[in-house]
Amino acid sequence: MTEENSRTVGPLILVGPPGAGKGTQAKRIAERYGIPQISTGDILRDNVVRGTRLGMQAKSIMARGELVPDDLVCDMVASRLRQADCERGFILDGFPRTAAQAGWLDAFFEHEFFDNAHRGKCLPIVIRIDVDYNQLLLRLTGRRSCQTCGRIYNVHSQPPRVDELCDVDGSRLVTRNDDREEVIVERLAAYQAQTRPVADYYERKGRLVSVNGDLPVEDVTAQVVRVIEDHSAVEAGKPASGA
Ligand code: AP5
Repeated sequence: MTEENSRTVGPLILVGPPGAGKGTQAKRIAERYGIPQISTGDILRDNVVRGTRLGMQAKSIMARGELVPDDLVCDMVASRLRQADCERGFILDGFPRTAAQAGWLDAFFEHEFFDNAHRGKCLPIVIRIDVDYNQLLLRLTGRRSCQTCGRIYNVHSQPPRVDELCDVDGSRLVTRNDDREEVIVERLAAYQAQTRPVADYYERKGRLVSVNGDLPVEDVTAQVVRVIEDHSAVEAGKPASGA
């Protein structure tokens, strides 16, 4: 086991508009540090596919590009965060997304994680991935994903080796139901109206760090890793890199 795979990391919150690269980066960081990626979008889509009660409630809302009600999402996140694999840290991808969710998460951390002997205290690292608007549209319309392993591709910037097939398991790649232009517009509007204030909320608390998401995937990962390492250094009482 490497040092990165054995220490406590985060928790990390990734915020950013649809198509910013939250899922792409969350997967890379999860693999590097051996902590789980908790994507509320992925969990909701899984519920839709399995036809659960939650999935049936969320399906049409997601298809319109609107946000699923806070109480449903918060309950779902609470049960996921209570699982044992979150003890060493986790990455929240797509949550919190409203001011109410952010307030709920702070309270959850305070009551369920602050008292928890193995963590002591729990101040999340919040990273916003900033990307140019036109780039977002290109990324979302070009996105393809593997429903078997979850790997994300892009026909423009990250194509699979064989057209429309996953490099890892050969499954046929799919276009997400909400990656249609008319729904993308709604999702971007929901971000501006409801999720941008979440970043402002963390900025006011001095917990927000922005990274340049317009760069190639590897360069964005390098920025995220630097933020995590600087945060860990400060927690350990060592000087940060200052970058
Ligand atoms: P969700 O699944 O969270 O979607 P989203 O926030 O709209 O974000 P995306 O998954 O579209 O984008 P991403 O930032 O992860 O980008 P990705 O890495 O895939 O939510 C879907 C729906 O679920 C919501 O609309 C809502 O209805 C509901 N929902 C979810 N969470 C909720 C919550 N908390 N509350 C209420 N409702 C909720 O990358 C995009 C593309 O770009 C890919 O093709 C990728 O290959 C490419 N790419 C990534 N990085 C780069 C790069 N650096 N350079 C070039 N290409 C890149």
